[in-house]
Amino acid sequence: MLDKLNEIEKSGLESLNTITDPTALEAWRVSTLGRSSPLMLVFSELGTLSKEERPVVGQAANRVKTALESAMDARAQILRAAALAKSLEQETLDVTLPGRRIGIGRLHPSTQQLRRVLAILAEMGFQVYTSPEVETDEMNFQLLNFPPHHPAREMQDSFYVEAGERGENPILMRTHTSPGQIHAMREYASKNPKDPPPVRIALPGMCFRYEQITARSEIQFNQVEGLAVGKGITFADLKGTLTDFARRMFGQGAHVRFRASYFPFTEPSAEMDVECFVCGGAGCPVCKGSGWLEILGCGMVHPIVLQNGGYDPKRYTGFAFGMGPERQWMLRYRINDIRTFWANDVRFLEQF
Ligand code: DAH
Repeated sequence: MLDKLNEIEKSGLESLNTITDPTALEAWRVSTLGRSSPLMLVFSELGTLSKEERPVVGQAANRVKTALESAMDARAQILRAAALAKSLEQETLDVTLPGRRIGIGRLHPSTQQLRRVLAILAEMGFQVYTSPEVETDEMNFQLLNFPPHHPAREMQDSFYVEAGERGENPILMRTHTSPGQIHAMREYASKNPKDPPPVRIALPGMCFRYEQITARSEIQFNQVEGLAVGKGITFADLKGTLTDFARRMFGQGAHVRFRASYFPFTEPSAEMDVECFVCGGAGCPVCKGSGWLEILGCGMVHPIVLQNGGYDPKRYTGFAFGMGPERQWMLRYRINDIRTFWANDVRFLEQF
């Protein structure tokens, strides 16, 4: 038995010394130290030996096993070192090559413009107030003085989420940010229902309309709404505030004009234009020859809307306005297709 062990050790070490690659080393491990190797056979035969022989052979077998294992580890190390030396010699690394550029992300143009509008309004004392994108018909229309079947609803075809049982109060995706006016006024009024505090807020966010998608209309877009309610607020405050907004947004020299308009939730209502910043008012394709660009709708908050928000229209007045950041961005960069905003084409997005 002992002779056999010596033989196993000797031949194992000899064959190990001839090994030059990892695959052969693994094959050597299986045949020399693996479960059915001659050495392991010795271990399994220990039980058949006499009481005297067993410890002697057992110790010898263990010694041979340890010796072979450490010789194998040493060999593996030699092979690794050789492989490294070879790769250092053969493969060249040009450390002067420039590294791979890391792509830095940026804000979507809509977000950039949304933030710009909000930053200007914040300087003017308007706080951001966010309200839900999913609304009831009551919030989105009725409380804003669009009764069911009112023709003004025609302009805001809607995506309904739940109708049927709900009769005249279906649930829909909001078609404008104006329902935020009701949410905000009600929350403010609840703080002191007898004498509600003044409101000066900006309502940003996504709106949804069931539109045919074309270069000029999308089914989703952002709006920023402004609302100021208090005692003694007049149309002069509306004009002053919005003229100042236009100057902060388009430059101190910006000229504006107000045109009479109609919205159910304001009375009187107006639309504000800025003098075309492309042609300076002379007339060009961007302003379609008129010299003016329409940028927002506005008006004095309708008494019914004040009432619905919890503000007594005999004591409170206010003004509101609503604008579209994507539209402003399109005018600024002369983009002629609104679909580019949600088309996820990096060739468009990377330009900003
Ligand atoms: N909600 C209107 C729309 O989506 C925009 C608007 C017009 C908002 C006049 C206002 C306003 O607050 O006073 O078309």
